[in-house]
Amino acid sequence: MGSSNFVYIVFLLLIAGAPLSYAWGVDGHYMICRIAQSRLTSTASSAVLDLLPSGANGDLASECSWADNVRTAYPWSSPLHYVDTPDNLCTYDYSRDCHDSSGNAGYCVVGAINNYTTQLLSYPTSRYNLTQALMFLAHFMGDVHQPLHVGFTTDAGGNGITVYWYTTKTNLHSVWDTKIIQTAMSNYYGNDHNIMADSINANITSDQVSQWDACGSSSADCANNFATESIQDACSYAYQDASQNAKLNDTYFLSRKPIVETRIAQAGVRLANLLNQIFV
Ligand SMILES: *[C@@H]1O[C@H](CO)[C@@H](O)[C@H](O)[C@H]1NC(C)=O
Ligand SMILES: *[C@@H]1O[C@H](CO)[C@@H](O)[C@H](O)[C@H]1NC(C)=O
Ligand SMILES: *[C@@H]1O[C@H](CO)[C@@H](O)[C@H](O)[C@H]1NC(C)=O
Ligand SMILES: *[C@@H]1O[C@H](CO)[C@@H](O)[C@H](O)[C@H]1NC(C)=O
Repeated sequence: MGSSNFVYIVFLLLIAGAPLSYAWGVDGHYMICRIAQSRLTSTASSAVLDLLPSGANGDLASECSWADNVRTAYPWSSPLHYVDTPDNLCTYDYSRDCHDSSGNAGYCVVGAINNYTTQLLSYPTSRYNLTQALMFLAHFMGDVHQPLHVGFTTDAGGNGITVYWYTTKTNLHSVWDTKIIQTAMSNYYGNDHNIMADSINANITSDQVSQWDACGSSSADCANNFATESIQDACSYAYQDASQNAKLNDTYFLSRKPIVETRIAQAGVRLANLLNQIFV
């Protein structure tokens, strides 16, 4: 183990008292998958319905937090939810950054998107469990769009930055996973993630869809681009005005809410596009 890994692990132990979260909350993932499912071709839609577990009742959104629920059962999957980048550089580089804390290449959110995309391309027959591949892919396409899932290493994507959300003590990562979404749902969308998802979805223009889907020829290029966008948003918006013990209020909420809504919209559109390309 390198000494920087050691320092990182000690740091993680120090902040372990606070819940370490690493995923859009349930509502964020739900909305992304609801938007995506509404944009599937009929071929992709049939494959998704075929692969979803029967308990899902055909609803992809209901399975989009499954990957968070299996983190304890599948410890190897934990690093697949994010990628840490060097402090303050505001760049992402696959060969430099996409590995787990023991240095295993590909064990980050971008590597996972490529892994589960490849597995799903073998549909309908595969040596892999494609139900799990679909639930992982849908989740990680969400995570790569959460700016602080491509954050700095020392603060573990904002988990190590204590902030106040209005009067509630929390950390910056949770603000981006859940707090901004929950406050928006409560202030504007009757506390209903279906209403919020459908408002975001209805607002997406066809120009945006063609812009967001244009990212190069291979899905590997695309996922790298999504991670680069996230670290840029992390630097321009998430970390700005949010130092240790910052008191975040309406000023932060109102200026960051459009960023969160755009990332949810992009994740939904791009997940649909990816599934439409996989299932042809
Ligand atoms: C790829 O998927 C398989 C099956 O879930 C898993 O065992 C492996 O660790 C994954 N690797 C990456 C980099 O996602
Ligand atoms: C595939 O994974 C799902 C979800 O974990 C599980 O319910 C199902 O039993 C698995 N299928 C096989 C054939 O192992
Ligand atoms: C709708 O789109 C406008 C213009 O792009 C943007 O300012 C606004 O935040 C969007 N609202 C939602 C709910 O996505
Ligand atoms: C809200 O936070 C900003 C800093 O982002 C600060 O300038 C402003 O005074 C705060 N407003 C209130 C009402 O506390």
